[in-house]
Amino acid sequence: MNVLILGSGGREHTLAWKVAQSPLLKKLFIAPGNAGTREPGINVDIGVEDFDAIRSFVLKEQINMVVVGPEAPLVGGIVDFFREDHSLKKVQVIGPTRAGAMLEGSKKFAKEFMTRHNIPTAKFQNITLNDYDRGIDYLKTMEPPYVLKADGLAAGKGVLICDSIAEAEKLLKSMLEGMFGEASKNVIIEEYLAGIELSVFILTDGDSYIIFPEAKDYKRIGQGDTGLNTGGMGAVSPVPFADRVFLKKVEERIIKPTVQGLKKERINYRGFLYFGLMNVIGNPYVVEYNVRMGDPEAEVVLPRVSSDLLEMFIAVAERKLKRKKIEIDSRTVITVMLVSGGYPGKYEKGKEIHNLNDVKNSIIFHAGTAISEGKIVTSGGRVLAVTSYGSDMMEALARTYRNADLINFEGKYCRRDIGFDLYDESQI
Ligand code: AMP
Ligand code: GLY
Repeated sequence: MNVLILGSGGREHTLAWKVAQSPLLKKLFIAPGNAGTREPGINVDIGVEDFDAIRSFVLKEQINMVVVGPEAPLVGGIVDFFREDHSLKKVQVIGPTRAGAMLEGSKKFAKEFMTRHNIPTAKFQNITLNDYDRGIDYLKTMEPPYVLKADGLAAGKGVLICDSIAEAEKLLKSMLEGMFGEASKNVIIEEYLAGIELSVFILTDGDSYIIFPEAKDYKRIGQGDTGLNTGGMGAVSPVPFADRVFLKKVEERIIKPTVQGLKKERINYRGFLYFGLMNVIGNPYVVEYNVRMGDPEAEVVLPRVSSDLLEMFIAVAERKLKRKKIEIDSRTVITVMLVSGGYPGKYEKGKEIHNLNDVKNSIIFHAGTAISEGKIVTSGGRVLAVTSYGSDMMEALARTYRNADLINFEGKYCRRDIGFDLYDESQI
């Protein structure tokens, strides 16, 4: 079959790498892709939100399946667009409809959904400019730190954690007055959850689901989880503290009620669902839902899947996922992101990347890369994900850092401590 993957990051390169291993694949395209996705497929110069251009391309190339990588086209209704167009009806699309994508597109919707279905999450109130005073009263009932979240998509920047109530009051006002544009016209004030974070993923056809390997992501730019938030600086799978008992709680208290809740609310959900969780003294709480695979989590999760991913996608589209089982590679996989100097603030692009051909014992998933005058150059903040398997975390880390040091481009930066908080548990 012919497949089109939408997106241009490390997640999409990993999806392309995995789908290309399937004997069921005929032709693979990635729109717009990056310098790395040219290897498993063919890049197409179309933006992920240009639905009309995607439609024309799908018809012209007789695409049978579209796999949607990022959230924006899902929240923008790409699945509904395909379902409502007579000539696209037969094309399988992996991703939820707009209604399902609201689990990520609106934090208010997600929190109210969790309340309706008794899914553990932090206590909250939704505030608008009209009831700012109620927001202040609510803050006064809470202990610091205070968590403020923009309701809508804010490029991963819409969550503010404040140490003092004075700061929280000031920022609440700024948010309501448009600090994140339309996205913060509604603000969720939420109880702070102290614990350790974990990402859990399922693939669902709306009836049944398959649980993918879990992962831990490192979001802050600096060593020891300090500094600004980024898209993610590295990831690890498996996660030692996510043992059988904990994952059983996640399945019973969170995954099952979420899938059943979507079904009860007649939301047609076929695709990945990502649970951003907090482990609070052994009990899981949902911090956020994302309606896609994580990035850089995909770079460690998908290499641990031994089963044919394209076969699973077909089962999702045909609502036959119940018959499928996932085989998982027991090895540890680590990814470390090489980023442009200055990221997540301002950074330069167009720096030539050296020594990619000398890499041994790692897989390089491209994120922000492009081709310029025949050379591979940087074209984004997160540039490359250096991914390695190991019989344990130390072996995977050693391989990754050897290659991370070998690859070079001006301004290259990476965190040296991916997995640092998990060594003790896993190595003893
Ligand atoms: P979100 O975009 O909702 O995932 O939030 C971004 C990050 O903020 C999360 O990955 C957490 O590290 C942190 N965070 C969000 N909500 C809470 C909370 N209620 N308690 C503690 N940390 C939080
Ligand atoms: N790594 C976090 C995310 O994909 O949202």
